[in-house]
This record gives sequence, structure tokens and C-alpha cells, in this order.
Amino acid sequence: MNNRRSFFKKTAALGLGAFGSDSLFNQLHSEQFREAEQLWDDDSQSNEAYWNVIQDAYTASKSEIIILNNGGVSPSPLVVQEALEKYNKVAAQGPSYYMWRIMDKGREPLRQRLAGLAGCDPEEIAINRNATEALNTVIFGLPLQKGDEVIGTVQDYPNMMHAYKQREMRDGIVYKQISFDFPIEDDDQIVKAYEAAITPRTRIVHVTHIINWVGQIMPVKKIAQMAHKKGIEVVVDGAHTFGLLDYKIPDLECDYFGTSLHKFLSAPVGSGMMWVKKDKIENIWPLVCNSEPKSKNIRKFETLGTRSFCIEQAIGEAINFQEGIGTRRKQERIHFLKKYWAGQAVQIPGVKLHTSLKPEYSCAIAGVSIDGMKPEELDSRLMKDYRIHVVGMNYANIHCVRVTPHVYTKTSDLDKLVGALRDIAKKA
Ligand SMILES: Cc1ncc(COP(=O)(O)O)c(C=O)c1O
Repeated sequence: MNNRRSFFKKTAALGLGAFGSDSLFNQLHSEQFREAEQLWDDDSQSNEAYWNVIQDAYTASKSEIIILNNGGVSPSPLVVQEALEKYNKVAAQGPSYYMWRIMDKGREPLRQRLAGLAGCDPEEIAINRNATEALNTVIFGLPLQKGDEVIGTVQDYPNMMHAYKQREMRDGIVYKQISFDFPIEDDDQIVKAYEAAITPRTRIVHVTHIINWVGQIMPVKKIAQMAHKKGIEVVVDGAHTFGLLDYKIPDLECDYFGTSLHKFLSAPVGSGMMWVKKDKIENIWPLVCNSEPKSKNIRKFETLGTRSFCIEQAIGEAINFQEGIGTRRKQERIHFLKKYWAGQAVQIPGVKLHTSLKPEYSCAIAGVSIDGMKPEELDSRLMKDYRIHVVGMNYANIHCVRVTPHVYTKTSDLDKLVGALRDIAKKA
């Protein structure tokens, strides 16, 4: 019996396996999602009857605090929580057998499903624990020489900046950071800023697909096309876009890509993925070593030692859940939610938005501030007085609180946010 068939047979006997007809998603939601589909109409981004079904599938929608920092990390729907619990219970009976001999075989079907979602060849996907691990693997694995230049921005994610800075210290590469004043509603302005920083020594352009601080969507494809014309490779940080924006990784035309799966895909905390363009795999050294570091096999990036295969396998139910909604629908709903609160907030005297409301420049995230109030003060007022959890951003040229709804966020919770901002602004 081949590995795949034996995996399905064994996991079915144990009640495991996300991709069979008896998946937890099918047991819990398939009927309900089919019925919800009847509620769908052309105006469904504001169809609360449909979205209530999705909200109810998340225990976080009933949390006693209003969670609006889903850009940091997102909760999983109950079906994913239950899958994880089930895998953990089975593994606890003997991880060396159940985890290493049975769940381990689930990685290949999972790779295929992730590749389906990402629109790429499964042989380009490595499964790991988060975007930091994925992108640090790429950054430390790139065969850069002393004097080679990397262009990034001040507004990229610190874990990636630190990786390039460490390569600067150890290997003598040159890491240059340009800076943007967001929001920007002009792709050309962004592309030109990268282009202006390029020199004959530039080897890599690093782009954050959605800037975590204020939610700007960067024109990755246009930047990649410009860079490729000059023979420069492109690394993309897709931590905030995978499972949120409706795109396929190859559409970005980049060379390397990393993401977390515990943000918008709502997979368990500690799940991530890297994508390397097929013909580039052999050039990248694995960060955690492998017996064949120059191999063309993407699995060389998965020699990560003992870790939770339970977390990894529960990603499958998050994919089922995602596909039950559809990424395009999810993107449009979350954009609708962002516009719903931010469109009202911007009308309040003293309230300022730090993010474009246009769908081509932002989706879930928006930054907001109140004149004369520090971000950390607004963050703590919202929590203390209104039980609303956001995150204060006070970094470089960015001073605001970041608000990130998710697909389970209720408009009534956003009404509370707008009311709170109104109260606070009045008293400021
Ligand atoms: C843009 C960006 N990249 C990477 C990361 C790192 O993600 P993780 O902590 O899952 O590694 C984050 C985390 O918020 C982020 O905002």
C-alpha cells in the first residue's frame, strides 16, 4: 500500500485526517455552510445572517473582550481547536509512534492542499512554524557575498531587519533601508523609491506584502518586475496576506516567500510556510541543517527536529474552513469591516486615520490616532474602559493604534469601537 493510502486508512481508523469525507469540518460545518450559502446574495458583504454562521464558528466571537489585534495572531475556529486537541490526545498515547509514524505521513497531503491554496507546485512549499522561521531561512540561506546589497524598508518587520543586520555584521553584506510615509495611494511612487536605491551591487529586494504597522498593501508584482529587469531577486514577507488577500503566490512574481498560517488562515499558533521558486531551491542553504544542503528538494527546509506534528496536521482543518468561505469572499468581508468602522471614525473631530480606505491599498488593518494622545495611552484606554484589545504602534514615523478585524468580528463590536473613539476624542 502506498504511503498516502496507508495514511488515510490509519488516520480514518483513529478518527484523524482533515482531507477525508469524515473530516471534522465536514462533520461540524458542511451542512451548516451549505444552508448559509442559500443566504448569500450580491450584497452579501453586509449580509449579517450569512456572516453570523461564520462568527459562531469561532469561540473568539463570544470572548468577553473585543479582539481587534488579529494582525498580531488570530484565533482558530472551534473546528481547528478540536482537531488540534484530538491530534494531541492521540499523540500523547505515544508520540514516537502516533506522531512520527502516522501523523508524519500527513505532511504530503497537507503540502498538496497548501499548494492548492497558494496556486503553486507542492514541490515549492515547506511547512514550518511561522513567518519568522520561513523568512530567516531564506535570508540566512541566500548565497550573498561581502559587499552585496539588500534593499529593504524601515517599515519592514523587525525580525527580518535583524536577520539582514546580522548578515551585515557576520558576512559584510550591505543592508539599505528606504523609508515611506504611509498611506500612499500611488504604486509608481513606491516602485520608484525602491528603484532609486538600487546600485550595481544590489542582489536582493525585500518587500513586505502588507506592512504590519499600518496595513499598506505594497505593489509586490510591480516591484518584482522592476527588480528582475535588473537581475535582482525578490523576497516577500506575506505574513499578513496569506489567507486574507485573494492571490496566488506565483502572481507576485517573486523568488522567495514566507508567511505565518496563524494569522489570517486561522491555523493553530505555531504554523507557517515558506515558498521557494523551484529553480532557486538548490541555491538556498537550510537554516537548520540537512544532510543534503544543496538539494533541489524543498523538504530540506523541514529538518526542524522534534516539534508538534499535531499543530501541523490541524492546519488541514483551517484550510477546509477557509475553502468553505472562499478567499475572495473573506477578503471583501474583512475589507468591508475595516471600512465600516474606519469610515465612521474618520468623521469624528480629532480622529485621524493612517491607512487608505481603498481596497487596492489596504484590507484588514487600519491605523487610527486621536490628536494629542499617545498610541499606548489610546491602546490602554480602549482596554481599560471599553474592553477593546488593539495594539499601540509607536515606531519610526508611525504613531497610531492598529485595529485589525477578522472574519469573525461583529459589526456590533465595531460600533462599540467607534463609540469608544468618539467618547475618548471628546474628552481628549
Ligand atoms: C509583516 C510581518 N512579518 C512577519 C511577522 C512574523 O510573524 P511570526 O511571529 O508568525 O513569525 C509578522 C508578525 O506580526 C509581521 O507582521
